[in-house]
Amino acid sequence: MALRFLKALLRAALVLGAQAVLAQQPPPAGDAELAHRHKTAMCIGCHGIPGYKTAFPEVYHVPKIAGQQPAYLINALKAYRSGERSHPSMRGIAASLSDQDMADLAAYYGVTALAGTAQASGNAEGGRARAAQVCAACHGPDGNRPSTPDQPVLAGQYADYLAKALHDYKTGRRNNPIMKGFAAQLSRQDMDDLAAWFSSQKSRLHDQR
Ligand code: HEC
Ligand code: HEC
Repeated sequence: MALRFLKALLRAALVLGAQAVLAQQPPPAGDAELAHRHKTAMCIGCHGIPGYKTAFPEVYHVPKIAGQQPAYLINALKAYRSGERSHPSMRGIAASLSDQDMADLAAYYGVTALAGTAQASGNAEGGRARAAQVCAACHGPDGNRPSTPDQPVLAGQYADYLAKALHDYKTGRRNNPIMKGFAAQLSRQDMDDLAAWFSSQKSRLHDQR
């Protein structure tokens, strides 16, 4: 009787242990090395050049993707592929990627390391207060601690890209129900201030991997 009880206890402990291990693993089962050898060649021409800017249809910094959350990277690539996000070059590129390619790329780029901070033009102090009130719950007060894997790291991202992303949510050009609601309440100045705050925070995002 006591032995059977002990066995049951042991089995329960094993199941719980396995669940704990699973819970700690990052979501995408991508092969970072495979991505590096075969797939990142398509990306480095834009995402691998520090300070590189788009020329069409608007001019702003190509966002940093190295160090970003893997699950967010996959969501972003899928959003370009489905047309939910509308940037022409990224749509073309994402259309050529399978789900496995996306998982591999996210595994490659989603590696964390601390890097410097980015320049900004808004008023970072104004942005800080607003960020603490509204944005911190999900992105963390400094944009470094997303509360779930599908929320991006904002800290250290280019300010002009962040401001453009907020503007795109507000106008519906970028179609995410959660961020649309928050961006709707922001003026152009609020967006610049928030972008200045988050972009000037120490970050794990960087241009190159
Ligand atoms: C021709 C230049 C170019 C190339 C090549 C390119 N990208 Fe991009 N990428 C961009 C631009 C510009 C944006 C921002 C578009 C926007 O405003 O939505 C972007 C956005 C992204 C985003 C969204 C980032 C975020 O914070 O939401 C991801 C993820 C991404 N690219 C991954 C990739 C991957 C992976 C490759 C290679 C397979 C790649 N890109 C190749 C220019 C490029
Ligand atoms: C309830 C949770 C939540 C709150 C609060 C929130 N966000 Fe977000 N944010 C998200 C999610 C989820 C995404 C990813 C959406 C997508 O895939 O486009 C996101 C995406 C973003 C992006 C796009 C980044 C990129 O790399 O493209 C920016 C910029 C952003 N949020 C800024 C803010 C700011 C500024 C605030 C405060 C005014 C805020 N967010 C409040 C959940 C939240």
